Amino acid sequence: MKFAVVARLFLMLPWLLVILVVVDIEPGRLSARSPIPPDQLSRTLKPDPLSNQSIPTIYAITPTYSRPVQKAELTRLANTFRQLPRFHWVLVEDSAFRSRLVTELLAHSGVLSYTQLHVPTPRRYKRPGLSRATEQRNEGLRWVRRNRSLRNSGVVYFADDDNTYSLELFQEMRLTHKVSVWPVGLVGGRRYERPIVKEGHVVGWYTGWRPDRPFAIDMAGFAVNLKVILSHPEAVFKRGGSQPGMQESDFLKQITTVQELEPKAANCTKVLVWHTRTEKANLVYEPKHNQDVIHIEV
Ligand SMILES: *[C@@H]1O[C@H](CO)[C@@H](O)[C@H](O)[C@H]1NC(C)=O
Ligand SMILES: *[C@@H]1O[C@H](CO)[C@@H](O)[C@H](O)[C@H]1NC(C)=O
Ligand SMILES: *[C@@H]1O[C@H](CO)[C@@H](O)[C@H](O)[C@H]1NC(C)=O
Repeated sequence: MKFAVVARLFLMLPWLLVILVVVDIEPGRLSARSPIPPDQLSRTLKPDPLSNQSIPTIYAITPTYSRPVQKAELTRLANTFRQLPRFHWVLVEDSAFRSRLVTELLAHSGVLSYTQLHVPTPRRYKRPGLSRATEQRNEGLRWVRRNRSLRNSGVVYFADDDNTYSLELFQEMRLTHKVSVWPVGLVGGRRYERPIVKEGHVVGWYTGWRPDRPFAIDMAGFAVNLKVILSHPEAVFKRGGSQPGMQESDFLKQITTVQELEPKAANCTKVLVWHTRTEKANLVYEPKHNQDVIHIEV
């Protein structure tokens, strides 16, 4: 009797494994696997003094993850973003929970309107050579699609936390009808990359790496009108089938064509955003034991 039960259990074991693997493949799709309740924090601290209801709101989606330079990077971004009227910062942490560091930073950032989200990257995607921040960008898109409608006028921008943004860039992108593009500095192994523009239309790409990409552009080099995001609910950043460095192209292919692109920044002749990337912090003398007697957040 006992033997029969054990034998049956063993028979079921491979199936259980198969189920576990399948469930693990698309954790976002199967809620059975997401034990974390949706946890988001949205705030509008006070009416924006510069607010002008007739200009579109910019929704900047920033994926971020815990690392020694995180607070410094986010502080640099906040110092820019807090000067912008009609701006909503959607910060998405690569984490199973909202971190205190980011919560506090946002509360004191001076950015008046923001949403703090989080979604952990599945462990198997945390490998060198794989695209980064896919899940976080998609979580930001999901928030925008759930919480804004065609009645709202807005522009969505993917503002990574390792770039430097000029205020002028946001003036340029604010009037985006469908998808606008511009040069990005210090990227792709060159001083800059840019869309090549002839008679007001994008006709090619000045880039050192795979110019054959349909949209040979960095994440920081384009913005999308909110209506386009809402009317293409299926458009997301992809893991499967997307090679590293093809995320931008694969996303833009779903929502626009090269002919439709709107060149900004004086027909793509000015650099208004830089892929600065902070150097990895040198912590060789950081002690493992005998640490400082007080704890300081850095
Ligand atoms: C609001 O923005 C519109 C369009 O840019 C402009 O025409 C108008 O003068 C602005 N109003 C205020 C009060 O700044
Ligand atoms: C955004 O949408 C979600 C899901 O519909 C909802 O739970 C949340 O309260 C909304 N947040 C805001 C700020 O509208
Ligand atoms: C961009 O190019 C078009 C067509 O050549 C021209 O009409 C327009 O004035 C240019 N825009 C700027 C800001 O230089």
